Amino acid sequence: MQEVKLSSTIKVFDNFDELDGDDSSLMSLAIEVRDTAYAPYSTFKVGAAILLENGEIITGTNQENAAYPSGLCAERVAIFYAGAQYPGVAIKKIAITAAASDGSSTEPVSSCGACRQSIAEYEQKQKTPIEMLFMGETGKVIKTASLLDLLPLAFGADYLK
Ligand code: THU
Repeated sequence: MQEVKLSSTIKVFDNFDELDGDDSSLMSLAIEVRDTAYAPYSTFKVGAAILLENGEIITGTNQENAAYPSGLCAERVAIFYAGAQYPGVAIKKIAITAAASDGSSTEPVSSCGACRQSIAEYEQKQKTPIEMLFMGETGKVIKTASLLDLLPLAFGADYLK
C-alpha cells in the first residue's frame, strides 16, 4: 500500500481590485451579468464569464425552474453555449461570482461538482488548461491555473476506452 498526497495550488487575491488584465475585465463582466440571473427560488444569483482563445467572451447566469432539478448553473449555461456557438475554440478562463440575496456571500463560492465535471470535459477535450477564478459577492478571489486543481482524479473520456 502506498499513501499518495494530492495537492493543488490556488492563488488568493484579497479582493477584486487585485486582479489585473483579462482577469479583471472577465470578473467585471461576471459581476455585471450576475444580477440578471433567473433565480426566483433560491434567490442565489451566479454570474459566469468565459474568455475564449479567439478573444470572444461568453456570459451566463443560473437559470432556475419551478421543477427545481430542471434548472442549470451559470457555469454550465455559459460553457454549453460556448461549446455550441464556438465548437473547436479553446476556453482560456472562466470567472464566476455568486451573491446571496442577504449580501452574505463574502467568501469565494466554488463551482458545484456537476459544473466542475462539465468544465473538466472541455479541458480534456481541448488539451489545454482552463483557468478558474471565483469569488462571492465581495471579498477574496481564488484563481487556479486549471480546472483539475478543483477536481483531482477527474473522471474523463479515457476511462471509456
Ligand atoms: N449555482 C450555480 O449557478 N453555480 C454553482 O456552481 C453552484 C450553484 C446555482 C444553482 C441554483 O440556481 C443556485 O445557485 C442555488 O444552488
